[in-house]
Amino acid sequence: MKRPRLFTFDQPTPSATTHRLVDQDIVAVSQFDPPLIDYVFDVAAEMREMHERIGGTDLLRGKVLTCLFYEPSTRTSSSFIAAMERLSGSVIPITQGVQFSSVSKGETLHDTIRTLEQYSDVIVLRHPETGAAGIAAAAATIPIINAGDGAGEHPTQALLDLFTIKQERGTLDGLHVAMVGDLRYGRTVHSLTQLLLHYDVEFSFVSPELLRLPLPYMNQLKAANKTVHETYNVADVIGSADILYVTRVQKERFSDLTQYEEVKDYYRVTPEIMSHAKDNAIIMHPLPRVNEIDVRVDSDPRAAYFRQVKNGMYIRMALLAAVLGKA
Ligand code: NCD
Repeated sequence: MKRPRLFTFDQPTPSATTHRLVDQDIVAVSQFDPPLIDYVFDVAAEMREMHERIGGTDLLRGKVLTCLFYEPSTRTSSSFIAAMERLSGSVIPITQGVQFSSVSKGETLHDTIRTLEQYSDVIVLRHPETGAAGIAAAAATIPIINAGDGAGEHPTQALLDLFTIKQERGTLDGLHVAMVGDLRYGRTVHSLTQLLLHYDVEFSFVSPELLRLPLPYMNQLKAANKTVHETYNVADVIGSADILYVTRVQKERFSDLTQYEEVKDYYRVTPEIMSHAKDNAIIMHPLPRVNEIDVRVDSDPRAAYFRQVKNGMYIRMALLAAVLGKA
């Protein structure tokens, strides 16, 4: 007797969308123009509503995400995992240090990616080298999402940062954005600055000399005719900033740790400093924080950094659904 089939495949598949993100890598923020940003934000807002009402859906059932992290992570990895789980997909988590994977046997990034794509529908990669996400994307036939490549870019963080600004202030135009901290090595600053170029924003960059924003980013701002201020002192911007985007000094990127010691405690946002800020200013941080924001600031309603964390899950739900052709 013929054995009955284990599976039937007659379920309707949702109609494929032709959106620009379907089957695409997300490597750099230069891929995103305002219409595409609006689309991602629309999907993310829907994801939030769905999450608040029913917790999760079946949208990505049967899909597998591999999280491949060559650098430490709390929020980025767990928000991608949460995003996938809320949409009923599954995750191969290689986030506990690649020392437990074949990377420690000398496997190349190329071969690791070619292997993991055999099991997965999408790979999220964090890597200490600038450009690694591009190399992975060239090796892979499935979408690669850049979750941070050295001091290069962090596009999904920049999208969630921008989404947070929009949520908190209701607009992306007419704002004075002050970036504070490690503007040299902070990849979140590099990506967010480029996204903000699309909007009517005045920029202030606050850092010690050693950690100034690199010239290529500064030149982009000048080419776009943006108003840009640079200063060493938070006091110069606190009264006029609408957004205070504070970052950690990126210790792991310093080749000379004595230089790190010199700048690590350069600035610290305290309730005293916040008393000079606008009533409707918001303070953001990609986290983790070390000493740059006093914990007493957390209870200030203008402190948006934990709301920003939650927005990260919604943006990543939207991006996963989009690249997998379900949004
Ligand atoms: C940032 C990163 O990894 O670049 N963290 C994050 O993804 N939220 C910022 C940092 O590590 O300082």
